[in-house]
Amino acid sequence: MKYDYLIVGSGLFGSICAYELKKRGYKILLIEKRDHLAGNIYTEDNEGIQVHKYGAHIFHTNNKAVWDYINRFAEFNRFTNSPIANYKNKLFNLPFNMNTFYQLWGVKTPKEAKAKIEEQKKLYHIENPKNLEEQAISLIGKDIYEILIKGYTEKQWGRKATELPPFIINRLPVRFTFDNNYFNDKYQGIPIGGYTQIIEKMLEGIDVELNTDFFENKEKNLELANKIIYTGSIDKFYDYQYGALEYRSLHFENETINESNYQGNAVINYTEYEIPYTRIIEHKHFDYVETDHTIITKEYPRDWKIGDEAYYPINDDKNATLFKKYKELADQEKLIHFGGRLAEYKYYDMHNVIENALNFINSIK
Ligand code: FDA
Repeated sequence: MKYDYLIVGSGLFGSICAYELKKRGYKILLIEKRDHLAGNIYTEDNEGIQVHKYGAHIFHTNNKAVWDYINRFAEFNRFTNSPIANYKNKLFNLPFNMNTFYQLWGVKTPKEAKAKIEEQKKLYHIENPKNLEEQAISLIGKDIYEILIKGYTEKQWGRKATELPPFIINRLPVRFTFDNNYFNDKYQGIPIGGYTQIIEKMLEGIDVELNTDFFENKEKNLELANKIIYTGSIDKFYDYQYGALEYRSLHFENETINESNYQGNAVINYTEYEIPYTRIIEHKHFDYVETDHTIITKEYPRDWKIGDEAYYPINDDKNATLFKKYKELADQEKLIHFGGRLAEYKYYDMHNVIENALNFINSIK
């Protein structure tokens, strides 16, 4: 055989595997069905602005080894995610912290804020929350739920909060400090010049074929290499024989605007139901670039059907059971490894994917 490994997919998982295996002397072919590299972390240069084509990507981790690893491929800036919520034209800081509580109620001390939240929770005696609405109110009270959670969540899931299961919100982190940093992680940033360069560096010297769907020549592809690393959808690999795993999808609407600064922040969430998008991203604020124009993206949640871009797995019992059946098939494969968010039917952040890919590579004898 010409190749030791065929890697299906040029996202973070496939590309790290390719890079690490090449270092170990293996011969690799990587195929990618899209017309570009990098999977969902793909960023496209638009006159100096790096546009995050598949949704805003902010790198964050507590794992120093992962941080050091990714920093080998690009220099990262000091971007700190501090999203803002817009509800009926009033602005609130996120995540829920002393700034938010001041904006909501005028409270100025942690003691006052805690008392206000307790008072809100006590207004409704919900012992066993039966749906997401009851769960959220029992955790945080009605004001925060109605202003900052309800509409956003209903848009995100395409269902009323009273029809959504309570487990979607297990806990709602609140901070009694004036701290708008969304993530608690030690390391955070955005690669200067975007993410695509990271994948390009990883794949230097590796045979790559774009616009090549594994399934268009499945039988031939299965014969191309001694082993396969597959990062596409697991149910598709098995011809959806037990049925399709479900997702939520997104639709992105990009707009170029002839002003240098449109909204003054990278991410603004729109939390009222009546506005159909969930957030507006202004890409230049990820990179701190100075240009006369700006690019914004409105993010609309969508129902998903086979053929659409799959973004968020639906973590309910039905899909968990279905995935288990596919996983049993995958576990029997001797020469094919299933990795990454689509093959494992799991929402992973980038740092999780790096850890998983490196663990997998290190497990190869
Ligand atoms: P990924 O989907 O990137 O790669 C799979 C590749 O396989 C794709 O390129 C696909 O085209 C290809 N492929 C599939 N089937 C194929 C076939 N049949 N033949 C050939 N090629 C095929 N994480 C984070 O840390 N911070 C963040 O801010 C965000 N933000 C974010 C926003 C949104 C909207 C989403 C949905 C996700 C995030 N993420 C994130 C998560 C991040 O996108 C994710 O961790 C990685 O992109 C996953 O990399 P993978 O390689 O697993 O999949």
